[in-house]
Amino acid sequence: MATIETNAELGQQIVEDAKRYVLHSWSVQDALQPIPVAGGEGCWFWDYDGKRYLDFASQLVNVSIGHQHPKVIAAIKEQAEKLCTIGPPMATERRSELARLLAEVTPGNLAMSFFTNGGAEANENAIKLARWYTGRHKVVARYRSYHGATAGAITATGDPRRWYTEPGLPGIVRMLDPYTYRCPAGHPDPCPVCTGAPHLEEILQYEGPQNVAAVILETVTGTNGVIPPPDGYLQAIREVCDRHGILLICDEVMAGFGRTGRWFACENWDVVPDILCVAKGINSGYVPLGAMIVSEPIAEWVRDKYFAGGLTYSGHPLACASAVASIEAFREEGIVENAAAMGDVFREELGRLAERHPSIGDVRGLGCFWALELVRDRGTREPLVPFNATGEDFAPVARLSKAALERGLYLMTHWNVVMICPPLVVTREEIEEGVAVLDDALALADELAA
Ligand SMILES: Cc1ncc(COP(=O)(O)O)c(C=O)c1O
Repeated sequence: MATIETNAELGQQIVEDAKRYVLHSWSVQDALQPIPVAGGEGCWFWDYDGKRYLDFASQLVNVSIGHQHPKVIAAIKEQAEKLCTIGPPMATERRSELARLLAEVTPGNLAMSFFTNGGAEANENAIKLARWYTGRHKVVARYRSYHGATAGAITATGDPRRWYTEPGLPGIVRMLDPYTYRCPAGHPDPCPVCTGAPHLEEILQYEGPQNVAAVILETVTGTNGVIPPPDGYLQAIREVCDRHGILLICDEVMAGFGRTGRWFACENWDVVPDILCVAKGINSGYVPLGAMIVSEPIAEWVRDKYFAGGLTYSGHPLACASAVASIEAFREEGIVENAAAMGDVFREELGRLAERHPSIGDVRGLGCFWALELVRDRGTREPLVPFNATGEDFAPVARLSKAALERGLYLMTHWNVVMICPPLVVTREEIEEGVAVLDDALALADELAA
């Protein structure tokens, strides 16, 4: 473990400046109390008082390789010494290498990458390209989704963060989610929503399939509750898309690069999208990076076309160098395999938690991508806090995460869902340590549960 140097005064100054001068994402500014982070290593980070936190959120579910991986740091340093930046029209060693590596590690015929600075831009470009390629303008997106905060990506997003920017991009239409725990169709057997095809077919009937360029979905829904699709769902969506000449865009910004215990989440169901969007785990955010990866037919189609898209920092050398090193480390250190193995530990440990805590309504997930859905009543499934809860309404979950934080466990929560998404290098001992803290903190939620 790296040496932890303390400097409480500096920590305080950093927080004061952060509160005064930094406009923070998705927050009521005055309510924020950011942790002044002095350093990190593996699944841990620490503040200027020397307090250590077990990162069960991988920050924003992006630090998949863990904090301060030496190989990735070395690659960034080496590239910085050689060439810090270069324009997108040039060919550079690491960008070319990364694009080739992506064609190798992604499934099926995914072949060609457009590099972005993050996930939203990857989705933006996927929507744009799908429209050009098909000559159609509508895009089907789902309600329980987050695709990013830029103008197009936030319109495709289903969750209430979209409301602030509406009306947004024209042509986005929506379908319901295969959320079996709270199925919007009441989950009859067979369920038209959770099996995928009947519900999508109905939406297409109303929208005109000949007008629909793409279906965009998170292969495993992330922020909106870690919702893996039931077996067969993704295959059914793929089949409907194929039948109507509609492209399937899988947003694996959160679920990709080992998070689910496979390199890419779609591999859990043997489905290959036409466009795969990635970011976060591609290089664990050591330098901002995302990519839109298109399949062979789209790559062939675009070769003699003018691609009307670009970014000054597309394929930035430092970002590409860090991603190449990260993918190599994933391969050498069996990081995806570890995520899969730790998935079994989570299933066991979180299952045991559910037996002890009446406030846990549902435990779901795979790999290092898990959720505890908290309820007031297991019978009625009434959520512990309401949909889109803020302020006092959100207090029961805020208390729980604060209690965990005081004990050194950093969690990401979304309304009544506690997300459990540590770096993929997490060990069984670290999982047990985190779950023990959760076990105590959940007592606060149990007080409200019947
Ligand atoms: C599934 C998904 N798509 C897109 C995004 C947006 O990525 P970024 O914040 O890098 O633009 C996120 C971010 O959390 C995400 O979880």
